[in-house]
Amino acid sequence: MCGIVGILSSEPAAAQVIEALKRLEYRGYDSSGVASLGEGGQIERLRAEGKLKNLAAKLSGHPLFGHSAIGHTRWATHGKPTEDNAHPHATERVAVVHNGIIENFRELRNELIAEGVVFKSETDTEVALHLVDRALQRSGDPIKAVQESLPKLRGAFALAFLFSGHQDLLIGARQGAPLAVGYGENEMYLGSDALALAPFTDMVSYLEEGDWVVLHRKGGVFHDRTNAVVQRTVQKSGAGAYLIDKGNHRHFMAKEIAEQPEVVGRTLAHYLDLGAGKVHLPVALPFDWKSLQRITITACGTASYAGQIAKYWFEALARIPVEVDVASEFRYREAPLEKNGLAIFISQSGETADTLAGLRYAKSQGQHILSVVNVTTSSIARESDVVIPTLAGPEIGVASTKAFTCQLTALACLAIAAASARGTLKAGEEEALVNDLIATPGLMVEALKLESHIEHVAHDMAKATDVLYLGRGTSYPLALEGALKLKEISYIHAEAYAAGELKHGPIALIDETLPVIVIAPHDAIYEKTVSNMQEVAARGGRIVLISDHQGMQGAGLEPAAKIEMPDMNPRFAAIAYSVPIQLLAYHTAVALGKDVDQPRNLAKSVTVE
Ligand code: G6P
Repeated sequence: MCGIVGILSSEPAAAQVIEALKRLEYRGYDSSGVASLGEGGQIERLRAEGKLKNLAAKLSGHPLFGHSAIGHTRWATHGKPTEDNAHPHATERVAVVHNGIIENFRELRNELIAEGVVFKSETDTEVALHLVDRALQRSGDPIKAVQESLPKLRGAFALAFLFSGHQDLLIGARQGAPLAVGYGENEMYLGSDALALAPFTDMVSYLEEGDWVVLHRKGGVFHDRTNAVVQRTVQKSGAGAYLIDKGNHRHFMAKEIAEQPEVVGRTLAHYLDLGAGKVHLPVALPFDWKSLQRITITACGTASYAGQIAKYWFEALARIPVEVDVASEFRYREAPLEKNGLAIFISQSGETADTLAGLRYAKSQGQHILSVVNVTTSSIARESDVVIPTLAGPEIGVASTKAFTCQLTALACLAIAAASARGTLKAGEEEALVNDLIATPGLMVEALKLESHIEHVAHDMAKATDVLYLGRGTSYPLALEGALKLKEISYIHAEAYAAGELKHGPIALIDETLPVIVIAPHDAIYEKTVSNMQEVAARGGRIVLISDHQGMQGAGLEPAAKIEMPDMNPRFAAIAYSVPIQLLAYHTAVALGKDVDQPRNLAKSVTVE
């Protein structure tokens, strides 16, 4: 993980580095740092533990005036989040920032120590620094030094190097972690993504796997892994169109929850022919839905719960068996996959290392690769046969909200498309389903109106040490997502169970201190959930019921709290029901005074295993 940036500027670059790092903090915030070249060409460094604001404060006390700089925001892997372990790492001659993991660092470290190198940090990064530094001492040529050193590094990483005495030189390298090059007027940039570079430019190129690039203010020269000079397309990133601020909201997460009616609507408009009441995918599919025997869905975290919900839709509507697994398991379990099957990968960032590895495995097994991603320039998007973008816009809050509901929206459209192609829908059913989807943004607006009531419920929940979530059907994976949201940002222990599983163990946990969140739209299996709710009530559990008017009427008991959602067809209710789930977690965390947008130990884009 971690975010890296490099700038060859026409003005003091450290402030620009901070501006770019602000947009990369989603990749980690354990420490940050910047290095630039002083007037005499010497490397000057400032680093700080904790969030970027600590570095910014240091910098205002000790400004760096150099016009060439690199910067870093860290999610600690090797070594504690101390200042010594903070990037950039530097010798007199070279400074480096790094994202990812150098897997053979122990071996390299031992070799370098044997040669007399003294290490100053516990990081894997420092081996890359010393390899280049040693080569530089031998040849005096920075480009040659990087070229010689890169093949010695194994793992998944992106690197940016700055050299003392070389005011017009930056070198970047990519192997398994993303790196973008930005083009300005007599300025050049490197960044982990285009969003980081958006304050300066929206013209970018992406390094391909194994590429390394030499930047001067006038441009860049790309090399592939064989060191041949290659051309990489310059494209408009579109990232500049997005304003990265909180608007009137206290947190990015609050803003992103509130934006959902709009972005879900935008995603729907992309996949539906609103006039005809049909799904209209704007891309040609390289497979035939009719000949599919099975769909394999792979993702991590919240995205995997979107996959689990979609499984219900594909199976019920299109009658295709679906298997869903988390990518960290899927990638290693040697799953047999029938040739020409469909493998779907879901990812907000499109850079999650496990999901990308799962994709490569599926590709090696002859699967058609379809990805549902929010960042369309990402590695996962680029390695897919078909990309289904979610049009959520940049998601900054570490806890995923709008990306999740946009994933669900895109997957619902795909499930209808599959069903329509396979002839498994009754006459008029496609139009009815499409109309249900079209109603969803409006239902989300209604759900958002419940916020002050939910805040009240959350104040009570904030006193709990454990919370249980229950649901059946698509409300079960939504319960899993609800529990994950609460854990992530409030640090309250939460678990989710399929309501029917309650009696097989978790019922033992229930007493009068345990809030039990029951997600139960009034659907065909509502009565079953009510029975499970009665079992909770009989044991004194504090039920928070999230249902609709009919559901509240039919509950047959008075829950400790009710969150009454508008009426809707239950098929796609998980999309609108995400709103109260998210608000409950959000307000519980706010009530506890937690750092909602940057919860401890987490990062938004997980580019390590
Ligand atoms: C991290 C984030 C989660 C996210 C997961 C998968 O754990 O904190 O919010 O769901 O990664 O990320 P992706 O970008 O692949 O959706």
